Amino acid sequence: MRAVAHLVGGSAIRTCCLLLALLASAVPATAASAAGSATGTDLTAELELIKSLGTSAASRANAVAEGKNNASFCANCHGETGNSKYPEVPNLAGQNPAYLLAQMKKFETGERKDDFMQRLIKMLGDRARATVALYYAEAGVTPARARPGPTAAQGGAHFTRLCARCHGDKALGSDSVPRLAGQQAKYLRLSLDRYRSSSGERFFPQMTAATAQIPASDVDAVVDYLASLKY
Ligand code: HEC
Ligand code: HEC
Repeated sequence: MRAVAHLVGGSAIRTCCLLLALLASAVPATAASAAGSATGTDLTAELELIKSLGTSAASRANAVAEGKNNASFCANCHGETGNSKYPEVPNLAGQNPAYLLAQMKKFETGERKDDFMQRLIKMLGDRARATVALYYAEAGVTPARARPGPTAAQGGAHFTRLCARCHGDKALGSDSVPRLAGQQAKYLRLSLDRYRSSSGERFFPQMTAATAQIPASDVDAVVDYLASLKY
């Protein structure tokens, strides 16, 4: 019974996502040129919270130290400095703090699905989340791969054409858009496959529309390009 309900629910979500993705792809590129407005995400609360922690250099340093402390459990998977220990776990180092907070919220509400992260994040209060986000945001990134993969040039061309208008020319992201530079290869591939297929773990129609335009044979090329980007 549960399995059937799951299948029905899944296909309904897929149909819905496909429709939204088609709608999103009909929006002219110019309408989405400013990444912040393109995502339509209201980050007022997240930005206020982060700002409130860093009203002076001293209070910011305190908040970062508090964040390091709060992140001691996270380090088991995301690494001491937010450079992940596992290829399927994302780096959080250098990530935009408002984006990190927004994703924590999505785990909490179930809009983003990952059994473990959903349960864990509910145990962190607002201040703990914000200090952790600040700590990771300030950490230096060690790219997942030391050298560009064999098809990086091809992947870079797709990135410039389809992704840079939101993720930025250097793939550093913004408040509402994730940094991708130096991200873990396996995590990138998994995430791209999920958006492309609207498998339901994450929901962002414009990502589905953009990633659907990468030829299936070139998804790894985009990963080859991103995983070694270093700034
Ligand atoms: C057991 C391993 C594990 C631990 C411990 C863990 N995480 Fe995660 N985390 C993951 C995995 C796996 C993902 C990717 C989930 C997915 O595939 O969407 C993730 C994703 C995230 C993301 C989304 C990142 C992005 O790029 O979108 C955030 C934010 C995050 N974790 C924060 C935390 C925080 C904060 C802690 C500690 C309180 C923590 N995690 C502890 C495994 C872990
Ligand atoms: C309209 C703006 C936009 C475009 C175009 C876009 N993205 Fe995204 N991307 C986003 C946003 C916003 C998110 C976070 C969505 C969410 O909350 O699930 C995201 C998430 C991602 C993630 C997950 C990163 C993480 O840390 O979890 C990857 C990987 C990614 N995008 C790659 C790409 C690639 C490759 C392209 C081009 C083929 C692309 N994006 C085009 C806005 C965009």
